[in-house]
Amino acid sequence: MSDRPVALVTGASSGIGAAIARSLAPTHDLLLGGRDETALSLLAAELPGATAWPFDLTDVASADLGAASRLDVLVHSAGIALLGPLAEASRDDWRRTFDVNLFAVAELTNLLLPRLREAGGHVVLINSGAGRNANPGWGVYAASKFALRAYADALRGDEPSLRVTSVYPGRTATPMQEDVRRQEGGDYDPAKYIDPASVGRAVASAVLATPDAHITEVVVRTR
Ligand SMILES: NC(=O)c1ccc[n+]([C@@H]2O[C@H](COP(=O)([O-])OP(=O)(O)OC[C@H]3O[C@@H](n4cnc5c(N)ncnc54)[C@H](OP(=O)(O)O)[C@@H]3O)[C@@H](O)[C@H]2O)c1
Repeated sequence: MSDRPVALVTGASSGIGAAIARSLAPTHDLLLGGRDETALSLLAAELPGATAWPFDLTDVASADLGAASRLDVLVHSAGIALLGPLAEASRDDWRRTFDVNLFAVAELTNLLLPRLREAGGHVVLINSGAGRNANPGWGVYAASKFALRAYADALRGDEPSLRVTSVYPGRTATPMQEDVRRQEGGDYDPAKYIDPASVGRAVASAVLATPDAHITEVVVRTR
């Protein structure tokens, strides 16, 4: 690694996380988090200063934290979305969703806090429009994202040396959105949704803001 700042992006094997990695690559060395080792290696080969860092967020303790000897930016993009009415949500649906969308975020942040504090670093949390409005059929996912919003706000207060940014994208053209449309029983036309690169650019603008500016929330909607 060089003397450039270092960013860890979870969910970098796909969609918004991969786009964020591409947006940060010109200014940051990158650790690319995810489970799909092939996708991570392909992206690492494309981006100078990027290293694949495969691990499962449901087993954060298994991650080799030595890879992040310095950390300036931690972007939590990994997430899952299981749709359906609350009456049909099982304990396993709740547990799987909260494991990835919230508990892993809290656990990984805590493990990396010493390095982030040392750097006066930045934590970016990819939330969702569903973290601001809970619509029918979206209860479990929305609850996890409302909780993620609370987590971000509390972290900002607890850790005054850090910058903490919540990003709320609307529907974005990624494999998750394709799966969401399948769960909704509708067609998937990526042209109708936000380009993940646009979310990547929004994240980069928050990360690259001058030190006097703390961009706490970014909302990205479809036009
Ligand atoms: N797409 C949208 O419309 C939309 C809108 C608003 C907010 N969001 C949010 O944006 C974020 C990224 O979503 P996306 O659309 O880019 O989804 P995506 O294309 O499905 O990517 C999800 C990412 O999460 C990772 N992930 C999931 N479970 C994991 C686990 N157990 N351990 C490690 N990594 C795991 C996946 O890695 P592997 O595949 O390698 O396991 C993948 O890289 C999510 O937090 C989502 O809630 C998405």
